[in-house]
Amino acid sequence: MSKTHNTLITNTEQQLREEILEKTKQLYDLRKNGETFEPGVSRVHYAGRVFDEKEMQAMVDSVLDFWLTLGKRGNRFISDFLSLMGMRFGLVVNSGSSANLVAVSALCSPALSNPMKPGDEVITTALTFPTTLNPILQNGLIPVFVDVEEGTYNIDASKIEEAITEKTRAIMFAHTLGNPAEMDAITELANKYNLYVIEDTCDALDSLYDGKRCGTFGDISTFSFYAAHHITMGEGGALLTNNLNLYRQALSIRDWGRACYCQTGEENPMGACGNRFGHVIEGLPEGYDHKYVYSNIGYNLKPLDIQCAMGIEQLKKLALFSEKRKANFTGLYDRLKKHESFFILPRSLPKAEPSWFSMPLTLRDSSVITRRELVQYLEDHRIETRMLFAGNIIKQPAYKNISYRISGNLNHTEKVLNDTFFIGVYPGITPEMISYVSDQIDAFLEAY
Ligand SMILES: Cc1ncc(COP(=O)(O)O)c(C=O)c1O
Repeated sequence: MSKTHNTLITNTEQQLREEILEKTKQLYDLRKNGETFEPGVSRVHYAGRVFDEKEMQAMVDSVLDFWLTLGKRGNRFISDFLSLMGMRFGLVVNSGSSANLVAVSALCSPALSNPMKPGDEVITTALTFPTTLNPILQNGLIPVFVDVEEGTYNIDASKIEEAITEKTRAIMFAHTLGNPAEMDAITELANKYNLYVIEDTCDALDSLYDGKRCGTFGDISTFSFYAAHHITMGEGGALLTNNLNLYRQALSIRDWGRACYCQTGEENPMGACGNRFGHVIEGLPEGYDHKYVYSNIGYNLKPLDIQCAMGIEQLKKLALFSEKRKANFTGLYDRLKKHESFFILPRSLPKAEPSWFSMPLTLRDSSVITRRELVQYLEDHRIETRMLFAGNIIKQPAYKNISYRISGNLNHTEKVLNDTFFIGVYPGITPEMISYVSDQIDAFLEAY
């Protein structure tokens, strides 16, 4: 092919791309103009994706590249994310659940100097999203449940020390619904007893504790970019750490368990280590291709580059999203304050600055109304509600036969199972919707 022919193709492709991206924007504008809120008719969602033409264009652009698997957009996303979080190493995965699975599995990797082993104990909470707990079970570890605090819904740090035994190796918990857990106390205990800390930050991106971002305290932290979360890729997740060896094991576990730490599409045919055919590994022929050496029992949990294209654009909007979440939370809280005789309203610790995922409400023992009645009323009035995940997961059918230990009692966890629900504060919720939701709660409670 001649140089002129190549230039012509490049120019035509560029022109076609621009036209497609312009049409994408037009489609976005068309849909956007049709959106209105009709109280009592439109649904007030508990969460949802908030985006504009930029995300659609970025994803379309990525599709047009037709790279498909993880590539330059994945690298760009993780580099932007690391800069935001001020962390050293990170990787993208296909969900927050995968991030948790990779995190716990990496801490069990035989390539660590001090890996967790089957039968070791991990302190956690029974008020949980299932896939915060599942990787503990999937790796043959024993969960030790401590209770949560009333109103913060977080692990009660004052109950952790009495749960520690010689078998305890880690503390794993979520910053529940974006509300930061008591990180100074948890970090102090982890240092004192030499425990790993795994911070499930899936609901708490942009939340701070003592001025420091959630997800930057532990040995490893995890994030979800599912559509309901602070930013989204549709489905997606990430994992961060400052420990190079832990990062390499996490990467290996994400990518089939291979020893090689080349990124997909690595430019250097000799690999990132520059020594692809030069390794000597016991039991394998000398120089066996390092790309096919397996040092962990792994999975394949990579997302697509197309998802990361969306993530890059969403990250730019995070600060604005958090501002709206905080304003919506405050707006709703101010309206609900007068109903404190019915509800335990959410609270956060003095050093915590939550970017709330949602507004949790717990009906007081003395309350004359039931959660079921209220939730049914709200749903009938087009207001979405959700339970606080599994409630007390020990009571869930799938967990009847798991091995676990309870330290102390789970009274607050049990209360959540019976009496807590949450409603939305996500950035797609407008002041008009906040008024509508508050009016409906007022109207329901007026009868009592
Ligand atoms: C605390 C917590 N951890 C983990 C997850 C799992 O994330 P994903 O849905 O991306 O798998 C969720 C899900 O919403 C969550 O709330």
